[in-house]
Order: sequence, then C-alpha cells, then structure tokens
Amino acid sequence: MTILDARTLMDRAPEYHARLNAMATEALWAHDPWVIKGPPVAHVWRYKDILPLMMESKIHYTMGEAEEDRRALNYLNPNGGGSSPTCLAGIQVIFPGEFADCHRHSASACRFVVGGDGGFTVQDGQRYTMGAGDLILTPSWIWHDHGNDGKEPTVWMDYTDMMFISWGGLFREDSDEIQQVTWPHKLPESNMRFAASGMLPVGSQSPTVNSPQLLYPWAQAEAAVRSLLQVGQDPYDCAMVEYINPVTGGHCTATQAHYMQLLVKGFHGKARRRTGYSHCHIVRGSGYTIIAGQRFDWESGDTLMIPNWTWYEHVAHDETFIHHTNDSPIREPFGLHREEVLTENGGHQ
Ligand SMILES: [Fe+2]
Repeated sequence: MTILDARTLMDRAPEYHARLNAMATEALWAHDPWVIKGPPVAHVWRYKDILPLMMESKIHYTMGEAEEDRRALNYLNPNGGGSSPTCLAGIQVIFPGEFADCHRHSASACRFVVGGDGGFTVQDGQRYTMGAGDLILTPSWIWHDHGNDGKEPTVWMDYTDMMFISWGGLFREDSDEIQQVTWPHKLPESNMRFAASGMLPVGSQSPTVNSPQLLYPWAQAEAAVRSLLQVGQDPYDCAMVEYINPVTGGHCTATQAHYMQLLVKGFHGKARRRTGYSHCHIVRGSGYTIIAGQRFDWESGDTLMIPNWTWYEHVAHDETFIHHTNDSPIREPFGLHREEVLTENGGHQ
C-alpha cells in the first residue's frame, strides 16, 4: 500500500477534519504541526461527541495508508499543542481484523482500555489482551503493535509523554516484520512474576527506571481502591491508589504517575493543587470538577485536563471511578514537584 502524506489524507475529507478540530482533536494519521496560542487551559474532551468521530474514521482512513499508522485521535489543548505541555492524550480504536504496524520509540505510552472485544497489543514478543479498565504500559524502547482478532472494535485511551520527549529529541524506529509471540502463557511474564502485591521474587531488580510490570488488570485496581475506601474517606481524594513499580515501590513510569480514584456518590472533595499537569479519565460515573472557580461537568468516558498549580475539587453525582495521571515523575528529580491543599473557606473554592 502507498504511504500517503498527512496533507493528502486531510484533503480527502476536509469537512471531517474540521469537525475533529471543533472538538479539540485531530487525526493522528493526518497530524498538522502544532501552533501554541497561549498557556494551556483546563478542558473536558467529551466521549459521547468524540467516539462517533472515532468510529467514522473507518470511512476516511484505511490502516497502512499513513506513516503514523494508528487509528487515533489526538486530544489537543484549545490553546494549542498536546493535551498539556508534557502529555499527548488521545483515543484509539482498532476494528476487528485490523493491524497497527510494529514500531518503537523513546516516548512512553500508557493505555487505559475503555472497552470492546478482541483488542490486543504485542510488546517485545508478549501478547497483552486489552480488557476493559486495564492499564497497559508501553515504556520507552519497547517494540509494540496492535491487533484485533475479536468481533467488536476495541477502544482505549492513550497517554504519551510525546510532548515532553519531543522537546529533547524523539527517536523512532519502524519494523517491517510482524512480531512473533514467543511467550507461551496467557498472562505476560511480569504478571506471573509479580503475581501478588506485597510479595517479590527474591533478587528482583527493575531493569529500567520504568516498571517491569506492564499490565495492571482492572479487577485488581477496583479491588484495591474499594478496599481502601473501607478504611476511610480522604476529604480531598476520597479513595485513591497508585499503580506502582512493584520492585521500587515508586511511580510506574519515569514520566507519568498513574492512579485509580473512587468517589462515592455525593462526594464533594476539598480543593488541592499541584505543580504540573493532570489528566482525569472518567472510567464510569458522573459529576463535575471546579477548576480555578469554573465548573466542568463530566460523565463516563470523558477526559479532563487540570493545568499547573490550579485549585481543583471533584464532585460526584454517582459512584465514580477516575483514572488519574500526572507528570510528577518528571518534576520530582529536580525538586520541582509540590502539592498543596486548600485550608481556607472549609477547603472549598
Ligand atoms: Fe507507538
């Protein structure tokens, strides 16, 4: 198949790409150079508006036509650039029978699976089945491709550190070969190696600064955060657990920290702020977040970006699960990470 440039692909369906832009998104396969218009602002990308555009992509793009061979929509900040200065969030789908070519790069990606059937990613010869609510890490340098041998599309959220890594020079390498799955078991090796929290194989070492465990199943995250809630509610976060590197106990990647947060129905958290940028993906539930005094409503599937050093407080209409990610690992080594909670006015804005 001939590889087309981004402009050709965009000119094929200008009205479609205009609708994407109106939703603060762009097609990854027809990426336009970003223009920064101002400081990053808080924004909610609405799943119910964006998912139909994602599904419509099948009319406008065939896998294999573009250099950037991913059926993905980038979430763009309304003031330009990625979703934040350190992160490029987005949504990706793979339809039954489709295959996204193998490549690797110096940027890392984290995938939070929204749902579907048959989706998988192969990473360094091991197959990771994409189950709803799973977090799958693709750290820097790992060969990865995606496929779907099921009956329904599989949809997931991508959070890459592309914006940060590009600043220092991005490396990328494509492969002409389809990865062979060489690991014979259904579960990836690291999930067999680190099978129980609180227990490590003797002599465990983390080969890189990133976690050696790449799959964090939904069932474990849900059980952990529900259990924590039984211990008591935090007035700011309600209940929140971090996906960690099981060997070091630290963040699971060198550039992004990931968390699962559970808000009980009716919870109104007190306000907090941190240096850096946070993304909140609503796994399920509904409510709103007050950011710098402005209300942002959200529901299942939506993604919210909270800017640097900005007060925010979550309010849940229903029981709500939030996949939270922020860039604190980038700032901590330089002493630039700081968090603060609001103590005045009862902790509310
Ligand atoms: Fe990639």
